Amino acid sequence: MEKFRSIRGMKDLYGLDMRKYRYIIEKSVEVGERYGYGVVETPILEYTEVFQRSIGDETDVVSKEMYTFVDRGGESLTLRPEGTAGVVRALVTEGLCQNLPQKLMYYGPMFRYDRPQKGRFRQFHQVGFEHIGCKSPYADVLVIALCSNILNRIGVIDFKILVNTLGDAETKASYTGAIVKYFSRHESKLSEDSQKRLHKNPLRILDSKSPVDQEICFMAPKITDYLSRDAGAFFEKVCSLLEQHGIRFELDQFLVRGLDYYCHTAFEIKMVGNHEDIGSVGGGGRYDNLVSEMGGPDAPGVGFALGIERLMSVIEKGNIPIQNLFKVAIVPVDNPDKDACMAIIKDLYDNGINAELTEGADVGKRMRMADKLGCDVAYIVGETERMSKTITVKFLRETNESLKNTKIDMDIAAKVAKHYAEVKVNR
Ligand code: HAM
Repeated sequence: MEKFRSIRGMKDLYGLDMRKYRYIIEKSVEVGERYGYGVVETPILEYTEVFQRSIGDETDVVSKEMYTFVDRGGESLTLRPEGTAGVVRALVTEGLCQNLPQKLMYYGPMFRYDRPQKGRFRQFHQVGFEHIGCKSPYADVLVIALCSNILNRIGVIDFKILVNTLGDAETKASYTGAIVKYFSRHESKLSEDSQKRLHKNPLRILDSKSPVDQEICFMAPKITDYLSRDAGAFFEKVCSLLEQHGIRFELDQFLVRGLDYYCHTAFEIKMVGNHEDIGSVGGGGRYDNLVSEMGGPDAPGVGFALGIERLMSVIEKGNIPIQNLFKVAIVPVDNPDKDACMAIIKDLYDNGINAELTEGADVGKRMRMADKLGCDVAYIVGETERMSKTITVKFLRETNESLKNTKIDMDIAAKVAKHYAEVKVNR
């Protein structure tokens, strides 16, 4: 029979990758809490409209990359391609807008039907942060600082922060007019994709990867020349605060982001050095109209998300602490000893001790299994032990002379294991 395979671009997570995944989430949440964020979880599925309205119909994400289907009730649903839209939808539907500002963080799988390649998957994970209800350059800088702090906390240091402004509505209108005029003059030389973008989403031409497009972009009008007074002042303040805060960044006039909801500050985190080819490990920015466009009040927001798979590929195995867990192997000598072993393991579990019942054809194989499972101590139970209500304790990794193989009473199995665990932890 043909074997099943996993869906292209969707990975199983286990072993070291799982340890890295959990490590990134744990540290991100720990730092996020320091900045006042609380965890939210929104459904992985939303009505398609939620993403169309927020991310924008003409973006690649909405027009090409969404997993959309009609459910049994005839509703069009979409697997979330990113987290911001769902969080804002939740904020509005749960009535959280009555209590602004809100700082919310989330993590979990996202889905984009893109061509899988290095660092790009169809199911990937993000950890994201949204600060909603605050329009101030201080909020933007604290969001960028949080992002940078998380990266440092998980041991990622070879990154640069690229920053740009997309201005306000007034800026966007005049700048879009200017670049449409400019790119129209070069239309025939633009890549096929950018020719389409010219009519649908002209700003996106600026971050085209095509070398010919990039050459044309080089001479394109710069947004800084089109900023309204307010947008210019806001961005200047963001940049000076970043400097004051000791956050190193680079201005990138071509940074436009791939989602339509952004205005003012936009930023992206790129790796430098060995991992330069991985693409952005994170990105975000300000979105002042999103909440109102989704039916909520006029509440500005700013946030970002980190791509967990990309971070997993750049953090070293050595950075992930191996938990110093203490574990007991319960080893029955013969089959009739197994029932007594079940009583012992229950006692250990009830007392919060890690334990494994080893199975195998004979006691030798069970002892090897105990070793393979990483157990520290084997509790061996044979007929003699059962008769005398004792356990033979064998230390599997111990060099400490004070902890010699010994016999203990069955009814103090958990107490003794706790003592050994403490000795291990305190060493
Ligand atoms: P984004 O830039 O589309 O922003 O995604 C954030 C990060 O997710 C990227 O920098 C990248 O590391 C990771 N990522 C995106 N697509 C893939 C993929 N196909 N495979 C692997 N990793 C991927 C957002 O999603 C915004 N919601 C961020 C935000 C939050 N802005 C404001 N608040």
